[in-house]
Amino acid sequence: MRVILEPPAGRAAPGPWKARAVEALTAARARQRRMLQGLPESVLVQQHSPLMSPLAWDVAHVANQEEQWLLRALGAPALVLAEVDALYDAFRHPRAARCHLPLLTPAQAFAYADRVRAAVLDFLASVPEDSDAPLLRGGLVYGLVVQHEQQHLETLCATLQLMTGHPYQPPVRPRPRPGRAAQGEVYLPGGLVRLGSDAPWGYDNERPARLAHVPGFLLDSHPVTNGDYAVFVAAGGYTDARWWDPTGFEWVRAEGIAHPQFWLPQEGGRWLRRRFGWMEPLPPDEPVQHVCWYEADAYARWAGKRLPTEAEWERAASGLAHAARSQPWGEAPWDAARANLDGDTWGPSPVGAHPTGTTPEGVSGLFGDVWEWTASAFQGHEGFVAFPYREYSEVFFGTEYRVLKGGAWASAPVAVRNSFRNWDYPIRRHIFAGFRCARDAR
Ligand code: AVJ
Ligand code: FE
Repeated sequence: MRVILEPPAGRAAPGPWKARAVEALTAARARQRRMLQGLPESVLVQQHSPLMSPLAWDVAHVANQEEQWLLRALGAPALVLAEVDALYDAFRHPRAARCHLPLLTPAQAFAYADRVRAAVLDFLASVPEDSDAPLLRGGLVYGLVVQHEQQHLETLCATLQLMTGHPYQPPVRPRPRPGRAAQGEVYLPGGLVRLGSDAPWGYDNERPARLAHVPGFLLDSHPVTNGDYAVFVAAGGYTDARWWDPTGFEWVRAEGIAHPQFWLPQEGGRWLRRRFGWMEPLPPDEPVQHVCWYEADAYARWAGKRLPTEAEWERAASGLAHAARSQPWGEAPWDAARANLDGDTWGPSPVGAHPTGTTPEGVSGLFGDVWEWTASAFQGHEGFVAFPYREYSEVFFGTEYRVLKGGAWASAPVAVRNSFRNWDYPIRRHIFAGFRCARDAR
């Protein structure tokens, strides 16, 4: 990995960056330990799915990235040897091969993470608060490392959901917030929209912030629910090629897929679903989760609609440029009433459960619960400059990946904003993804 030393164009907002970084790093680590405490060593080293790393790999990978960016890149000496870097370099070994590497044991991985963290807290005391160094301006590199750890905690959640040999019991089995809301459509007038962001804790793929004209369109007021989606399944949606992208239909047939992942059909058209270590009746009012892009796209076509583009999704969340918001509800900081984020709920809430997170135009649930698939491919915007390394975003640009927006229940607020872009292959369903539909206004 080569560090690129060109700073992003955006102005750095003032802020007590180090204090914010320490608080966010501490919160992320506490969440990691809450999630993983009590898991036996055998579970931490096991390959639970070819799509995922062993849990202990993520622990050491996060620590290694923290060492690289908050110690070495800022001039502190290395703690581990280059061989250790190589073991935890995501580009060197595919996920499915990582359990065969001479990895640190779980105890060593946790100890390494603790050692890096102690060294970081020590070293940060000597780093100036207001530096114009490209990595430090606006606390950019702190934001990078904090978000990276939180993103890997969401990845760990996906691994824990996939585990079957040792079904995972979350530390709490929460009761969902009351919700229930009728699906509706909101007409969003067209106009100039501010897309992307130059905020220093944004990623290079969000830059540069720019203005674009988005034509008026209709957007579902809520994500598509399990109940909605079950109608599509019962109507034979998975066997009717008319609704599917041809590649997706081929894939569904080849894999024998007939419903969202983790659903289990019961007598009389009812469904159970597996959520971590327990089975439960499928809650009809929650956003459908664990559907891939092809499934979302097929549902939308069957419903006479389509997926929103990324620009349309951002327009719904941000409003028009003259009064652009950075979150659906505005600039007030996130709290648990506004959106189901931060991992402690262990699943989506029923739609309508977060009325204070609704946009002024009446679009609900844009943040949290489930990532929302968009129609758009993951591409760089005009004026994109990779910073501080190509391997976060640029190497994934192209037509293979689709963009997801808004974050899931497992995403941390620090890693969710209107401009944040997630991406994955159109066949991926183990992520906490759902969707809402859009329609041309005619
Ligand atoms: C932004 C979620 C697609 O997990 O591949 C973690 C985040 N990048 N480590 C991923 C990431 C490097 C990334 N996603
Ligand atoms: Fe990573």
